Amino acid sequence: MKVLVTGSAGGIGSAAAALFLEKGHTVTGLDIAPSVIDHPHYSHIVADISKSSSLPDIPGTEILICCAGVQDSADDISVNLCGTMNVVEKYAFQSSIRSVLIIASASAHTGSEFPAYSASKGGLLSYTRNVAIRLAPYGATCNSLSPGGVTTALNRPVMDNPVLWKQIMDLTPLKKWMDAEELAQWCYFMTVINRSCSGEDILIDNGETHLNARFIWPED
Ligand SMILES: NC(=O)c1ccc[n+]([C@@H]2O[C@H](COP(=O)([O-])OP(=O)(O)OC[C@H]3O[C@@H](n4cnc5c(N)ncnc54)[C@H](O)[C@@H]3O)[C@@H](O)[C@H]2O)c1
Repeated sequence: MKVLVTGSAGGIGSAAAALFLEKGHTVTGLDIAPSVIDHPHYSHIVADISKSSSLPDIPGTEILICCAGVQDSADDISVNLCGTMNVVEKYAFQSSIRSVLIIASASAHTGSEFPAYSASKGGLLSYTRNVAIRLAPYGATCNSLSPGGVTTALNRPVMDNPVLWKQIMDLTPLKKWMDAEELAQWCYFMTVINRSCSGEDILIDNGETHLNARFIWPED
């Protein structure tokens, strides 16, 4: 299939692109940064998703995976929310489309990260459902994934700080973060295997959001 991955020069996007290539698909990557992938079935476009006029025509996209994003910048809303909308509006609504996947964030659920970042990701959850409604007549799905921590360069400030890392692990029931390769497998499942789930968000956060409740009750 023809797969388009945004953010393909970054941790999650490059892992997703690599997995689809390994499975025999043809991948176009789109990123503001140069390519990090060298493969005969990979082509790379340098473009800024926040500028819709900079997005080239890419006909026949069957699977669209939106990973491009920034964190704690002046552009969190314009890249993460408006930029993702630019990409989906440009490439999804055509007869070849089969599935769209948007990488949101656990912060869309918890609101616990940088204000504009959380707002951008929260917006993506309702946009995912909006796209799912509009893509259904094409027989195509649209879902989002909301990862908690993923061990990519984006998180160096806490991964490289043992004190902060311990604080995070104390709040994380499974005592680990996911790596980009695991998230790539989720991307593959949601876009290739899944044909029946649409308009949904899946929270993948090692239990951080929902498993910290405690039952308090007097001892006998
Ligand atoms: N790493 C995590 O813990 C985590 C958790 C939840 C959600 N996410 C989300 O997953 C996505 C990927 O994160 P990552 O960890 O791989 O980050 P990353 O920084 O490694 O990769 C992001 C990529 O997006 C590209 N990009 C940034 N602005 C762009 C623009 N305007 N146009 C085109 N490309 C642009 C960057 O060049 C980079 O290659 C992001 O949307 C991020 O918010 C990450």
